[in-house]
Amino acid sequence: MPRSKKQVTTKKKYAEKAVKDGQATGGQPVKRSASSKTPQLLRGFKDVLPIDQKYWDLIESRAKNLAIGFGYGRIRLPILEETQLFSRSVGKDTDIVQKEMFSFVDAGGDNVSARPEATASIARAYNEHGMINWSQPVKLFYFGPMFRREKPQSGRQRQFYQLGFEALGSAEPVIDAQLIAIFNKFLTQLGLGELVTIQVNSIGCVTCRAEYKQELVNYFKPKRKLLCEDCKKRLIKNPLRILDCKEASCQSILGEAPQILDWLDDECKDHFMKVIEQLDQLEISYNLNPYLVRGLDYYTKTVFEIWPKEKLGSQTALGGGGRYDGLVELLGGRPTPSAGFSVGIERVINLLKEKNIEIEEKNVPQVFLAQIGSQAKTKAMKLLELLQDEGIVVAESFAKDSLKAQLELSNKLKAKYTLILGQKEVLDGTILIREMEGGVQEIIDYKKAVDDLKRKLSMT
Ligand code: HAM
Repeated sequence: MPRSKKQVTTKKKYAEKAVKDGQATGGQPVKRSASSKTPQLLRGFKDVLPIDQKYWDLIESRAKNLAIGFGYGRIRLPILEETQLFSRSVGKDTDIVQKEMFSFVDAGGDNVSARPEATASIARAYNEHGMINWSQPVKLFYFGPMFRREKPQSGRQRQFYQLGFEALGSAEPVIDAQLIAIFNKFLTQLGLGELVTIQVNSIGCVTCRAEYKQELVNYFKPKRKLLCEDCKKRLIKNPLRILDCKEASCQSILGEAPQILDWLDDECKDHFMKVIEQLDQLEISYNLNPYLVRGLDYYTKTVFEIWPKEKLGSQTALGGGGRYDGLVELLGGRPTPSAGFSVGIERVINLLKEKNIEIEEKNVPQVFLAQIGSQAKTKAMKLLELLQDEGIVVAESFAKDSLKAQLELSNKLKAKYTLILGQKEVLDGTILIREMEGGVQEIIDYKKAVDDLKRKLSMT
């Protein structure tokens, strides 16, 4: 087929450019292959750099202490699970399952998903390990990454971390109240107690909710035109979710909507009243929120979320949870009333940062070890290990030769003492010790350096 003049010139241009770029390829344009591009993070994924580690360490250690205090044993769950675990438990019509899962068919032909949350895995593990035979309730604690392919924005990522507390095998309202109390205590210990509100509601059991759903459909149907496109679908599939739609037009017609509390049957009402009474007894303030319904299908009775008082970006909840009395049975186990909650770690960290809450730096070095000259460097490397073996937190910068630069770094790291080892000290068998705040220096016997330092640091 004859080629047009334009095609020929374009090709020539590419060829000339390729030759110019040193990539002559017989006239073919050279495209930078994907593998030679500088790799970048996937959208919605983040690296956690050392500077932020203090937040993660603090949150994890506080949560671990609460878990120990309240008798929750740590469980580590896999990141990949069968896809059907989530479609059956979280719900096949929920946003999470419909739009947000990272799912794929693996090389063996299995449908698997990166977990979007952990409660489903908890219920699976409960059945799989025969936890029904353990002392009830079985109390479990977890901490780890979850994956949802949502539109990334402030406070919303595609990989995010949750910590969670789950109590399986008790229908007692005291469990619900205690979970809310643990969540509240966790935030209070982080200095966020005054900055958040606890939202509580009950969405009843399957029976009373069915009647309420019908009532909602009767209410919204004549106002269908005012609903957003998503809520028009929700009207058929899950009318409850219309209640927590963020669209202004949907919110504008909520005012007169029937409220679930009026539709709870006696058992659900009694359960909810007891949860509320327990919270009152514990002097925990909360807001009864009739529009709180949560976005996962497994909930029954109590649901709750904790929000910052001042909204952070478009995301609200720091965490949420509730009762899921039917989940273990739905996944093939025996009836096992259960409840739990999880907290979004990044959202808590965002709030800590936003409110400038001081976090104690854990890894502040007690001592900085400075050296000048190659012999001193070698000796300092040995001394570093001796100090570490005694449990002293030491910093160094063996890659630097200038004493000035090393002292600057010691100051920056807020080390209490700096040990200085130079050529002269190596020959004399001594070492210089400098108290950083006052700048007082003394020369001590090298062999006594470790013991002297321990005394100074009150470690003996
Ligand atoms: P959830 O409300 O879907 O509940 O998630 C809990 C928390 O995880 C949210 O409040 C939020 O802080 C955080 N989170 C969720 N999605 C994202 C995201 N894309 N980016 C950042 N943070 C996010 C559950 O997952 C239930 N499993 C909670 C539960 C435990 N219910 C009973 N037990």
